[in-house]
Amino acid sequence: MTSIPGKRPRIAPSVLSADFSRLGDEVRRVEEGGADLLHLDVMDGHFVPNLTFGPMVVEALNRITDLHLSTHLMMSDPLPMLEAFVRAGSDAVIVHIESYPDPRPALGRIRELGAAAGLTLNPGTPFEAVEPYLDHVDQLLIMSVNPGWGGQGFMPEVLPKVTRAAEARRDKGYGYEIHIDGGIDLGTAPRAVQAGAEVLVAGSAVFKAPDPRARVGELRRAAEAALRP
Ligand code: DX5
Ligand code: ZN
Repeated sequence: MTSIPGKRPRIAPSVLSADFSRLGDEVRRVEEGGADLLHLDVMDGHFVPNLTFGPMVVEALNRITDLHLSTHLMMSDPLPMLEAFVRAGSDAVIVHIESYPDPRPALGRIRELGAAAGLTLNPGTPFEAVEPYLDHVDQLLIMSVNPGWGGQGFMPEVLPKVTRAAEARRDKGYGYEIHIDGGIDLGTAPRAVQAGAEVLVAGSAVFKAPDPRARVGELRRAAEAALRP
């Protein structure tokens, strides 16, 4: 997939900022609002100091939505859990380059299990860290906040990595999609897509909005407007 100006940007609400006492309703709401996929943030209390949920919640969400589930594993050692997350219904599983210096065993295992393989890097990690593995990646996620919590401010200094991801794909013919995660709102979405991001992960901007259903469309329109010549 190449980044074609004018191509419809995709919106991936992150349920991290949803109301977990009524998670099913929250997901249905953004699905009705036209969300393209769901981003599920798994934190292990070790890779990041926060703790969220595991395969059981992924499995429950998979029962109530047809949306593509992209599961972002903020875990120190995700390998032993990959099968459980794919069996629970993850269509894609994203691992951090900071979890393993060589992510190929994890990426290979995710594909072998039948899911799309995702790789991500923290804001402080240079693009060169992921470069050797791009041929094994279906979703490349650029972190635009330090992982651990929703609602943090966007870090514009990561935008050159988004552009490098688009250039590397164009030059080398790689097949990954470019996702961006953290601090995406109506103000930052345009900058992210102009840099080359195709999938915008948004947690608080969607679920803390007065009308999350409408906010999905607003985010997409803000991104589309930024791509118009
Ligand atoms: C941060 C998570 C993000 C988070 C984004 O550790 O990876 O997916 O949910 O939340 P916002 O959009 O509020 O920055
Ligand atoms: Zn995430």
